[in-house]
Amino acid sequence: MSNRQIAKRYRCWPALMAARGHWDNLSLLDSFRRDPQRGQTYSLQAAGLFLDYSKNHLHPEALLQLFAAAREADLPRAISRLLGGEPVNNTEKRPALHTALRFQGEPDNEKEKVVGETLAKMTAFVNAVNGGSWKGFGGNAITDVVNIGIGGSDLGPRMVAEALSVSGHGQKNVNVHFVANVDGADLSDTLVNLPPATTLFIVASKSFSTLETRENAYSARRWILAGGCPESELHKHFVATSSNVAAAQTFGIAADNIFPMWDWVGGRYSLWSAIGLPIALALGMDGFNALRAGANAMDRHFASAPLEANMPVILALITFWYSHFWGAQSQAVLPYAQRLGRLPAYLQQLDMESLGKCVTRAGEAVDYQTGLVLWGTEGTNGQHSFHQLLHQGTRLVPVDFIACRQPMSELDGQHQHLLACCISQSQALLAGKSLSEAQAELRVQGLSETQIDELAAHKVIPGNRPSNTLVLPELSPAALGALIALYEHKVFCLATLWDINAFDQWGVELGKQLGGAVHQALQSGQYPEIWDSSTTQLVEMFKQS
Ligand code: F6P
Repeated sequence: MSNRQIAKRYRCWPALMAARGHWDNLSLLDSFRRDPQRGQTYSLQAAGLFLDYSKNHLHPEALLQLFAAAREADLPRAISRLLGGEPVNNTEKRPALHTALRFQGEPDNEKEKVVGETLAKMTAFVNAVNGGSWKGFGGNAITDVVNIGIGGSDLGPRMVAEALSVSGHGQKNVNVHFVANVDGADLSDTLVNLPPATTLFIVASKSFSTLETRENAYSARRWILAGGCPESELHKHFVATSSNVAAAQTFGIAADNIFPMWDWVGGRYSLWSAIGLPIALALGMDGFNALRAGANAMDRHFASAPLEANMPVILALITFWYSHFWGAQSQAVLPYAQRLGRLPAYLQQLDMESLGKCVTRAGEAVDYQTGLVLWGTEGTNGQHSFHQLLHQGTRLVPVDFIACRQPMSELDGQHQHLLACCISQSQALLAGKSLSEAQAELRVQGLSETQIDELAAHKVIPGNRPSNTLVLPELSPAALGALIALYEHKVFCLATLWDINAFDQWGVELGKQLGGAVHQALQSGQYPEIWDSSTTQLVEMFKQS
């Protein structure tokens, strides 16, 4: 990538290149030695979260120029356009008002009013299901709720419900399950032990046209009918969240059972809407509202903090810095919390579906890198898997470590071990191990000088590798809400810096279009001659007729 456009877009580009040069002969560890207060200087708090970003290659000049880049990109105006409901999703001519979904207090405008009405409808539903007054076809209270949805209609609700429902915040009245994949194994494995008479399905689909959700919903319908439910009582077993009310009704969902969605909320930003029903069922409405309140606290910080003290802005600038000046191709998110194990998968859609773009907002092809590959898993499991590459591999991978102060289980003695692992991983990335340290270690172990010569180089750990550490006071709905909103806003800042639209996803359409044609070919055995020989070979292999 030539980077010509982006270098031209930013007057501060040469100064940023010069700031990068500052680190040519200086390691991160040196910078900590030079400045004993570095940890404190490069830390901040927002919405109850603490961010230590000191283990990054930042210094006053680099930061000065990065904030200059943010100003040159007109980030403050972009933020107010986003929060003010302007059509920031320019290809679909829509605002992206997920922040309106977490308004607090009395509704202030039309959008907040409809959100308030939906919250009231959700409250009535959650109380009925969790309170046992919503009965299945046999007259018994619902025991199990299955959310059928994919992408934004699955990942967020699933991640939050899993993170919070067993950590003392859950209601535990009904069991909440999730089905996403069109692979029938997902649905059938979920339903195998569920009682049709007391199982309720939520069909979650903003468009109500998504292949996976449609197929699973029809299979669920057949399953419940086969389980003895009369057609006339199907309404006791199906509700939907969608902006396509007509399609939901055509499927057979009763009008009263449809929760609204709006075109001004993107799928991957929708867990705060009725798409979050599984969260509300798992946590109760109080928990769901605490999640919204936590996100709202981060929204207020994002809206009002100066760039230099704005947590989402800082995170975005750090990614921008490593992407353009350090060659980073991917970023790892490592939550040291078992129950946040699904956070990386959720963030993959949020970040990569938003930032995986190759044209500017005006439709001009970019000549610079945009979204990075995001990956990760829960700590400490990753330490015994891919951390080797983080420590000794050849690629630079900036890491976000996430930790919670309070233990997340009654085995609180183990929490100190968990935290020690988290802190020491960032320390190891920073400090590494020099050749002389490796040699000294081997000498202490009693190895001969020949053995030391053979082994020492393998034990060297380069260090000087960057990370952020984010600390939640506890794994609570409010803290998780703030954390999710932090990443949502970080993504928006990066999109602004790269001049791309964070709110469309045209790239996924082609696969959907071709998928329909291939499915037809598999069924009929017929396909156009112009198809490539790999595709036709595979169609031949799998065709039904
Ligand atoms: O895969 C693309 C996508 O459109 C996502 O953006 C979205 O979250 C997902 O499909 C599901 O869409 P829907 O809620 O309309 O079924």
